[in-house]
Amino acid sequence: MRKQIAAANWKMNLTLQQAETLLHEILTTNEIEKENQEVVFVVPFPYLIPAKQRINGKKNFSVAGQNCYTKKSGAFTGEVSAEMLKSVGAKYVVLGHSERREYFNETNSVLAEKIDVALSNDLIPIFCCGEPLSIREADRQNEYVEVQLQESLLQLNSETIQKIVIAYEPIWAIGTGKTATAAQAQDMHAYLRTIIQTIYNREVAENVSILYGGSVKGSNAKELFSQADVDGGLVGGASLSATEFTQIIQALK
Ligand code: PGA
Repeated sequence: MRKQIAAANWKMNLTLQQAETLLHEILTTNEIEKENQEVVFVVPFPYLIPAKQRINGKKNFSVAGQNCYTKKSGAFTGEVSAEMLKSVGAKYVVLGHSERREYFNETNSVLAEKIDVALSNDLIPIFCCGEPLSIREADRQNEYVEVQLQESLLQLNSETIQKIVIAYEPIWAIGTGKTATAAQAQDMHAYLRTIIQTIYNREVAENVSILYGGSVKGSNAKELFSQADVDGGLVGGASLSATEFTQIIQALK
């Protein structure tokens, strides 16, 4: 059975003290009993170790990096490798977030390299895809997102692709308060699953978790997550509030 995930993407927010308080509140009010559910804290690099320590083996909670570099190691001042993330206890790494694509020029082919380096260090990539507003307005979102998958992910073999988590995040919904409707999310998620089914097979497609991201809140999470092909969310703004994020965790199916 594929995983359902509530992932908190803190982006470049919070001091260490604020982060510790937030984690404490979330960890003391939430238990994840179902084996196929998980809460992932996608935290800034300096907070990976303290976050991992706070989680302290609590069942079905884990930490993730927000990015990693394409290279294994070496003279790349300011970058963080997949091996480093693994060594401090990260289980996942977010790759291809639209902010990385836009502000740091991450292309589909760079992301293909990052996917490979993450997987070879036993990190699970949470691969982000999603279209800008102009593409949605032209009703070309399916082909746009298909190219993102084709150029970064679909080179993987059928065993490996099942390890990936995909996050569909329409750019027009990120940080805007303008969530995709549950039907829009479901349509795209079903389409993504069809692409995977066509290239691999139905069983493989059914095993890939596909998260929705873009203004997920406590008030809309339940409707979004109840869609057949929506397996949880990648949450920005609302993950900075313990109350909001707790509602989102509780909205997992
Ligand atoms: P948002 O961000 O929830 O603030 O829209 C989502 C994301 O960027 O992952």
